[in-house]
Amino acid sequence: MNAAVELAASQFFESVNKWYASATVRNSQRILVPETAKGEFTYPKSRQLLSEHPKVQALGHDGVAYVLAQSAYQYMYEIGLLETRFVIDCSLNLINNVIAGASEEEKLDALTVVIDEGYHAHVALDYIIQMKAMTGIEPLEVPQSNGNLDAVRRAFEQLPPAMHNDFQLISVTLAEHTLTKDLISIGREKGASQAFTKVMTDHVSDEGRHASYFAKLMSAHWKRLPEETRLVIGRMLPAYLDDYLAGDADRSLDRRILLACGFDDNEAATILAQTQSEFAARLDGYIATTRANLVKLLQRTGVLDHPPTREAFVAYGIAL
Ligand SMILES: [Fe+2]
Ligand SMILES: [Fe+2]
Repeated sequence: MNAAVELAASQFFESVNKWYASATVRNSQRILVPETAKGEFTYPKSRQLLSEHPKVQALGHDGVAYVLAQSAYQYMYEIGLLETRFVIDCSLNLINNVIAGASEEEKLDALTVVIDEGYHAHVALDYIIQMKAMTGIEPLEVPQSNGNLDAVRRAFEQLPPAMHNDFQLISVTLAEHTLTKDLISIGREKGASQAFTKVMTDHVSDEGRHASYFAKLMSAHWKRLPEETRLVIGRMLPAYLDDYLAGDADRSLDRRILLACGFDDNEAATILAQTQSEFAARLDGYIATTRANLVKLLQRTGVLDHPPTREAFVAYGIAL
């Protein structure tokens, strides 16, 4: 073996060994929601503005716990959707050459992502089912999509079908990067239940590995894309970032939660209006920080070395 092949082989075995040693699916115990969950605030209050509003507080401990439980369900369902409808799909596309060009070693790593993400979706649904049983609170809805999936669907509508799979790899890479940072941040919030925090911290311990895997792959894949594909995807990327980060900007779930708490349409509208400026400020802050992180990722992976893509970002008003 020459030195380069030997180095590649040792790096490869390092990633396999790392997965065996650290993947939560191989090393973690089932996360149990304790019986005390009934009286607990599951989700961090700092992440759900409604829980701090005087009218919601006036509902008492159980009312606040109900609002936070709905937010926790929503968060867990969104994780399941992201894993099963997006990241696993992309990884299978890499394994089966629908996204062309992955090496066998990269395919083996993609299989670990499929297994990890299947497990994360399992943990999230297991948590939801246990919580329903312990608290008796039913989720208001089982979402069939989320902001990220909706934005990808809209992007696909703009793109020629032949470019969908290449775009999928880029959008999954962005999502994995964002998710890693989001999980770190929500896992640090005070006031969430112990079980909820454990789901977050376990999950993020796998996501760092995924984020670097996809970043490396996207970097290589971008370079081998036909110039026409780079031009088309590069042009739409800046607006896509904002579209996918906007999330539930119209607060439709918040409105449904308030109605389910027993508020009428007018009261719900008032509470939403009274919390709107803080909601918008937090969302804008989140979008600005996350967008800056993603632009850094696109720089680091060489996507912005492509002059027309770089120009598209500048034209969109993003300082590079
Ligand atoms: Fe995951
Ligand atoms: Fe992941």
